[in-house]
Amino acid sequence: MAPGNFPVHASKPLVTATINMALPWEATDGVPQSPDQDPYLSARTVSMSSSKGVALVTGAGQGIGRAVALRLADDGFDVAVNDLPANMERVESLVHEIQSKGRASSMYLADVSQEDQVKAMIDGVVAEHGALDVMVANAGVAPRISVEEWDRIMAINGRGSFLCYKHAGIQMIKQGRGGRIIGASSLVGKQSGATQGPYSASKFAVRGLTQAAALEFGAHRITVNAYAPGAVETPMLTHSTSEAIIAQVKEMSPLKKIGLPEDIANLVSFLASKESQFITGQSISINGGLFFD
Ligand SMILES: NC(=O)c1ccc[n+]([C@@H]2O[C@H](COP(=O)([O-])OP(=O)(O)OC[C@H]3O[C@@H](n4cnc5c(N)ncnc54)[C@H](O)[C@@H]3O)[C@@H](O)[C@H]2O)c1
Repeated sequence: MAPGNFPVHASKPLVTATINMALPWEATDGVPQSPDQDPYLSARTVSMSSSKGVALVTGAGQGIGRAVALRLADDGFDVAVNDLPANMERVESLVHEIQSKGRASSMYLADVSQEDQVKAMIDGVVAEHGALDVMVANAGVAPRISVEEWDRIMAINGRGSFLCYKHAGIQMIKQGRGGRIIGASSLVGKQSGATQGPYSASKFAVRGLTQAAALEFGAHRITVNAYAPGAVETPMLTHSTSEAIIAQVKEMSPLKKIGLPEDIANLVSFLASKESQFITGQSISINGGLFFD
């Protein structure tokens, strides 16, 4: 099937949810003056048995996205997960894993570079789970250099992030109770490297988008941030980088190691939490000391 032609598919929960799905988040007309008055913040102090809110993680079939989805489930979120149809089996098994933690989950097969699919995905999450509170626009690709690949990488990393931010923002503003939008930049979104041109440009784009969206959505108590990892041990890294280069990168790090997907999930967990409410517009370096801002 040609890219962009596959349908968005929302699976029904694979295990009957036993969780009380009534979310304690409340709509409000005014901008609150203190955290106590902020419905987003107060909603996050609910007991462990009820949901902290609804998160959507794109590109969750493997790597960083998978670790982030599992971590947000451990944190108490119901977690909807997205990836391409080619990754359906992995996403299905992730849905089971999230549900086995006692959280609701559902699967959305969609290409984040296609606006109709992103919009249908977010509508599907709201229909299934009742709301969208945390958007993690994680999906990304890192191909080599050619004109065709420039277009593909900009479509997925640049336009895909833009579409996820845009439609998540529209939904969160409609809900009127704030929210969190989190994107995937990179170390090379701050300091490029030879042969990294298109990928680096796309990750600089995520930084710019993150700043603009933070300015635009701030009045609605929606924070917008991105993670900017160095080398992280995922299929993206191991498929695109030789073992010799990975060994060199480890040697260059003051910590003498590369990151794990769980390291990034720890940061996303904080960015999604009530405690991060004063951070917005940032692309946060998480690179083992390979680069200092
Ligand atoms: N691994 C690293 O070293 C590293 C470093 C810096 C930034 N990042 C960024 O972090 C994010 C996750 O990286 P990763 O290493 O886990 O990558 P990965 O390749 O292991 O996983 C990415 C996932 O995104 C999915 N995906 C690709 N195109 C998609 C599309 N159009 N729509 C929906 N899903 C799509 C893939 O199928 C895959 O499951 C990416 O944005 C990446 O650029 C990774």
